[in-house]
Amino acid sequence: MDDRILRELELLPVARLYGLSSPPVRAEAAPSTPEPARPGPAAAETAPAPRRAGTQASPAPHRVVASPSVEPPSGIASMDWEALRAAVRDCRRCVLCEQRKQAVFGAGGPTAPWLFVGEGPGADEDEQGEPFVGQAGKLLDGMLAALKLARGREACIANVVKCRPPGNRVPAPEEAAACAAWLDRQIELVQPKLIVALGKTAAIRLTGAEASLASLRGKVYAYRGIPLVITYHPAYLLRNLPDKAKAWEDLLFARRTFAAA
Ligand code: URA
Repeated sequence: MDDRILRELELLPVARLYGLSSPPVRAEAAPSTPEPARPGPAAAETAPAPRRAGTQASPAPHRVVASPSVEPPSGIASMDWEALRAAVRDCRRCVLCEQRKQAVFGAGGPTAPWLFVGEGPGADEDEQGEPFVGQAGKLLDGMLAALKLARGREACIANVVKCRPPGNRVPAPEEAAACAAWLDRQIELVQPKLIVALGKTAAIRLTGAEASLASLRGKVYAYRGIPLVITYHPAYLLRNLPDKAKAWEDLLFARRTFAAA
């Protein structure tokens, strides 16, 4: 494991415990100042909380439908990757289309063996049309690098909702439901060997389990027959640095699960 990556993730000491890094040859450089966390999901993913609310003061129910019952878009079952991308670009199935700059389809193509699922685009993603390009994205890229995965080629990235919820709030159940068919078709086309749900919104959407994220970690679920594991959302980790060690354990667990799949 590349020590530079582990240092960037601030996981070097934990990785050493697991024997996954070179032994220290000199004193560690002082840890870099933590990046200012962009507002991000769930101030505490262990408890229901508003996403990117910038405050932990007013917890709100974290409700994301897992088994949506809305009618899927017509013709979706025969859409290939590019047709799906075009349909998502033009989607007007929920109110999120009204304030978006653009829908964010995802990164990577349908041949990636890993699929990472986040919550929904933030301001940077809305601007650039790419998932996870802000500070949380930088951390996700570090996590992917720690797994030796190239963004896009080996790791496809998608979100529960394709359009930015105003104010970066948690997507409403009807928004997640309206978007569900898009994500489901992405999963169907990618047929990844492993899905990694990033954070509570993705975990609830893909498992239906309304439990704390802490209690959902460390287990293998199945989504439509595909193994799925759950870890913290990178934006949550930017605000809760001690939980990075747990995220590291989750990545190791994901890697073992992938190897066994
Ligand atoms: N957070 C997410 O859940 N998804 C993104 O694409 C960016 C931030």
